Amino acid sequence: MNGKENVKEVAGRRNFGAQHPVMTPQPCIMIATYNEDQVPDVMMAAWGGQCDYNKITFELGAHKTTENIKRKKAFTVSFATEDYMAESDYFGLVSGNKVPDKVKRAGFTVTPSPNVDAPIVNEYKLTLECRAVEIDENADGGARVVGEVVNWSADESILNADGKVDLGKLRPIIFDSSALIYRAVGDSVGQAWHSGKKFQ
Ligand SMILES: Cc1cc2nc3c(=O)[nH]c(=O)nc-3n(C[C@H](O)[C@H](O)[C@H](O)COP(=O)(O)O)c2cc1C
Repeated sequence: MNGKENVKEVAGRRNFGAQHPVMTPQPCIMIATYNEDQVPDVMMAAWGGQCDYNKITFELGAHKTTENIKRKKAFTVSFATEDYMAESDYFGLVSGNKVPDKVKRAGFTVTPSPNVDAPIVNEYKLTLECRAVEIDENADGGARVVGEVVNWSADESILNADGKVDLGKLRPIIFDSSALIYRAVGDSVGQAWHSGKKFQ
């Protein structure tokens, strides 16, 4: 299959079929779990997002993280940031199955979540503590996971004067699946549910 079989082309555009669709933005979700001996593990997932008001989802291959989530039914999610781009990429390159102390090797530290049996990575400034409420296992040992957020917390340094999270201060990065690079999240360019009012 080349991904273009039985597909009609859209005139006047380059057509790519079904393979490697570019979806943007893809977040750099950093999933933290405990191994069977309570050593922390962190992996990067870009195939995921928010799927309900207080739920998030991601698609996992057969990783150490996947085993950990199946066992503990718990994880935390943080977001890769510009200042920790290399450490975050490392968590997507190396498996806890081969390098059990990968978190320590990256120079990161953790604090146990007070709400779920999973670690909070201290270096990441925004963290969602989640209970795994759906684990849809596939034949390859992977799973589609839905997590319910039971608490989320932010470092004071990324809050604005109103006490809200300021992504301009957090400086998260996204995965660009077309160029296989990380990109910075940019400036504010308009107001949601407001800028379009000029067409009303
Ligand atoms: C940019 C990037 C995005 C990734 N996205 C995913 C993903 O969405 N799902 C997945 O299963 N693996 C993804 N990975 C691969 C895992 O992060 C990688 O296999 C990691 O080593 C697993 O770690 P673990 O075995 O310690 O859990 C991604 C890696 C990178 C670099």
